[in-house]
Amino acid sequence: MSHPIRIPQHIAIIMDGNGRWAQKRSHPRVFGHIRGASRIKEIVLEANRLGVKALTLYAFSTENWSRPEGELSVLWKLLKKFLQKEERELHQNNVCLRVIGEVERLGGDVRQVLDPVVQKLSQNTGLQLNFAVSYGSRRELARACALFAKDCLEGKQKPEDMNDELMTRYLWTSGLGKLSDVDLLIRTSGEYRISNFLLWQAAYAEFIFSDVYWPDFRASHLKEAIEQYSKRDRRFGGIATQVRA
Ligand code: IPE
Ligand code: IPE
Ligand code: MG
Repeated sequence: MSHPIRIPQHIAIIMDGNGRWAQKRSHPRVFGHIRGASRIKEIVLEANRLGVKALTLYAFSTENWSRPEGELSVLWKLLKKFLQKEERELHQNNVCLRVIGEVERLGGDVRQVLDPVVQKLSQNTGLQLNFAVSYGSRRELARACALFAKDCLEGKQKPEDMNDELMTRYLWTSGLGKLSDVDLLIRTSGEYRISNFLLWQAAYAEFIFSDVYWPDFRASHLKEAIEQYSKRDRRFGGIATQVRA
């Protein structure tokens, strides 16, 4: 029996394995970052084409700041280059871009490129593309608590009103509204961990761990992941018949 393909509304991807991809070829790690950055467009356009509504890409974690200076500077150069090179095509494809994470920690040169692109694509109504940059979910949750506490002190909120729905409005993903829950979370590179990504939003996500290193990840891998997702039985704590109904 063949299953109908269900397209997840929100896909999140931990784009991992750049360094190992390069090392396997006896190249410096940054080669993997260069190749990895060049894979992003194909995956974004494929997600858009398939009708995925939101795509969150983990590009840089709060913990990644601990990497050597030389590697960091290449990563920032690649982010700027990606934005400059792909802005037009993303816009033509009606993609809306947002950044989630500690944007205030990014260098002025990065912000100078990033902010106008985000602004330009902000009214687009197609795929909601989130770049997680200097993102850490613990940071996100701690920040949400602080913002909510501040609103309480200012009389804008009451502690007893806090609930799951209200919480989502204090997260970096608040721009996604009802789409902020992740349906499908993919991690490449054969690691089986979440590495501080979307801890709240992935509460009921389906996980797919792929052995493919990110620089080798193609549209066909994304489609395979969606096919696997289609066969999963999501119960959300209920029993199968209830959820299908
Ligand atoms: C993912 O690839 C990219 C970033 C974390 C910025 P890695 O750089 O983590 O590559 P591996 O996991 O060391 O192979
Ligand atoms: C997670 O990968 C972050 C990104 C892919 C941006 P890491 O390579 O930083 O994660 P760990 O250190 O293997 O858990
Ligand atoms: Mg890694």
